[in-house]
Amino acid sequence: MQSSLTFLGIESSCDDSAAAVVRVEKHAEILSSVVEGQVNLHAAFGGVVPEIAARAHAERLDGCVERALAEAGLGFGDLDGIAVTAGPGLIGGVLSGVMLAKGLAAGTGLPMVGVNHLAGHALTPRLTDGLEFPYLMLLVSGGHCQFLIVEGPDQFRRIGGTIDDAPGEAFDKSAKLLGLAQPGGPVVEAEARLGDPGRFVFPRPLLDRPGCDMSFSGLKTALLRARDALVAAQGGLTVQDRRDLCAGFQAAVAAVLQEKTRRALAIYLAAAPDHPAFAVAGGVAANGTIRAALETVCDSHAVRFLAPPLRLCTDNAAMIAFAGIERFRLGHRDDATLSSRPRWPLDETAAAMIGSGKKGPKA
Ligand code: KG4
Ligand code: ZN
Repeated sequence: MQSSLTFLGIESSCDDSAAAVVRVEKHAEILSSVVEGQVNLHAAFGGVVPEIAARAHAERLDGCVERALAEAGLGFGDLDGIAVTAGPGLIGGVLSGVMLAKGLAAGTGLPMVGVNHLAGHALTPRLTDGLEFPYLMLLVSGGHCQFLIVEGPDQFRRIGGTIDDAPGEAFDKSAKLLGLAQPGGPVVEAEARLGDPGRFVFPRPLLDRPGCDMSFSGLKTALLRARDALVAAQGGLTVQDRRDLCAGFQAAVAAVLQEKTRRALAIYLAAAPDHPAFAVAGGVAANGTIRAALETVCDSHAVRFLAPPLRLCTDNAAMIAFAGIERFRLGHRDDATLSSRPRWPLDETAAAMIGSGKKGPKA
């Protein structure tokens, strides 16, 4: 097997245009990682507009690739392959990336590997920490929420997930209900820091049901009701009301994620008692209260807790390049027939998820 592999990665499944160069020798090294976000393009619409996202990807991706190669100090001749997100995601964006990768592969003669975006997230603890298989993963962002037992570069077992909104989406919608800025997660967290989590006790959905499935859409409805009751009683919200609502909401999300993680760990540890490792990824992993809640469960089970740095928790192309290398090592190659998939569950045997969030279909 080739001991050193250097791949270009391309990511365009949602609202980040990204390209990166990753080299794996003994350890993985990120030689460059360029991410161009689109928050300003979509701000006026209150969510990602697929057509605007697709056009922006088509216009920006080649520039991202040029920058990634320049920052790595490499040319196409120094690469061993090209990895590209082939789904799941907003189809126009995925197509932009896949078409670019096909063109580059045809022009350079380099092999191309299509990567599942969720596999990119799920394999990130191996990129950052060299974590051995298997491990339990919680993917928790604006578009995803699922527990995965990661057994190999293309072996994932989904043991639970949201049946409606992803937690980041619930943070964003709640922020909107309280007149706070987007993306809502960091703003709600900042408000919650100054609030009393005990004043409003919101429901903990699905805790009364066995298993690791979750639901977050009812939480924002509860927040809406609490807000409206305050407005009806006192004519508006005080600054402290808003902080307390945020604190109560965040406490409910943290409690649900903590309890469901406890159950997921029990399932995982029964199957893999010799590999006590848990990793979290996705934008919501930035939340201090949630991170601490998850870490507490891991500590109580003597399980190693890993949370990659935020720039690698959120969407990026380094994770795609790395996942591409892992797949390439297993012998995967794609050609001009590689298709772009709006839906692509990591675990094809798990029950299909329902719901379709602001960032496109959940997988
Ligand atoms: O992983 P990400 O960048 O994009 C995808 O959804 O794929 O995650 C963004 C989501 C947003 O919904 C944002 O509000 C949420 O992560 N988020 C947070 C925090 N920082 C970002 N949620 C809660 N607390 C935070 N500190
Ligand atoms: Zn993502």
